[in-house]
Amino acid sequence: MSSSAAERGQEYALETKGLLKQFASVKAINHLTIAVPRGGITSIVGPNGSGKSTLINMLSGTLPIDEGMVVLDGTALRVIKPYDSPSHGVTRTFQEVRLFDQMSLWDNMLVVLTKRNVLGALLERAGTAHSSRAQELLEMVGLWDKRAAFAEELSYGQRKLLEIARALAMDVKLYLFDEPFAGLFPAVLEKVKVLLQDLKKEGKTIIFIEHNMDLIRELSDYIFVLDSGELLAEGEVHEVLARPEVIEAYLGT
Ligand SMILES: Nc1ncnc2c1ncn2[C@@H]1O[C@H](COP(=O)(O)OP(=O)(O)O)[C@@H](O)[C@H]1O
Ligand SMILES: [Mg+2]
Repeated sequence: MSSSAAERGQEYALETKGLLKQFASVKAINHLTIAVPRGGITSIVGPNGSGKSTLINMLSGTLPIDEGMVVLDGTALRVIKPYDSPSHGVTRTFQEVRLFDQMSLWDNMLVVLTKRNVLGALLERAGTAHSSRAQELLEMVGLWDKRAAFAEELSYGQRKLLEIARALAMDVKLYLFDEPFAGLFPAVLEKVKVLLQDLKKEGKTIIFIEHNMDLIRELSDYIFVLDSGELLAEGEVHEVLARPEVIEAYLGT
């Protein structure tokens, strides 16, 4: 018995169809068509400048789509607005961490939990569901003791952890992480690994950008390799990383 297209579509958390992003003469994402499996951890790899961040920026609405579309949970989208993306079930972190530097860690969490309503976050009283979730997430990333500090006082690794805690606070289906491990000390790196694996256990779909081959092999169920904004390879991680054209793309940089 063959399944309908709609049923088959349910296998994918996200699809792109002919996605294009052009900066002057550079096609950063060049008519890219991919389908990301639902559930599990998918990595996006490729040399510097291959379009990885641009793709995540388009999927999260940070950059407008020039041509093509994104299909999220069966809904075709030609326009994704950044603050709409949670309603589409998507959240993300940035390669360059973005926080409210002049606010405490606690308020940074509550702003997300109260749906980015800064006033709502400041009026929020202890004892609510949002407060207990904020505490749970800050404990999870090991920043509970620093809850009263301003975000600007944090170290680089702590900033990344806070950004991940904020992403986890969104409680969406699809999480996009742009180089979550870059520049982290081993102990912090281990913590982030566990956070991603826990999300996977909850049945979420995780897409992350990474350069470190050991981390890619260890964490990914599926992999897309980009080169100059185009798809060079995709598939099961160990098989794809053994392909000559993939090895060559890396050695060539
Ligand atoms: N905002 C921008 N303005 C102009 N060019 C950009 C911009 N963002 C990315 N690019 C260009 O698009 C290409 C892909 O960049 P990027 O997506 O950041 O690559 P990656 O994340 O794989 O290193 C590069 O050539 C880069 O210089
Ligand atoms: Mg990048």
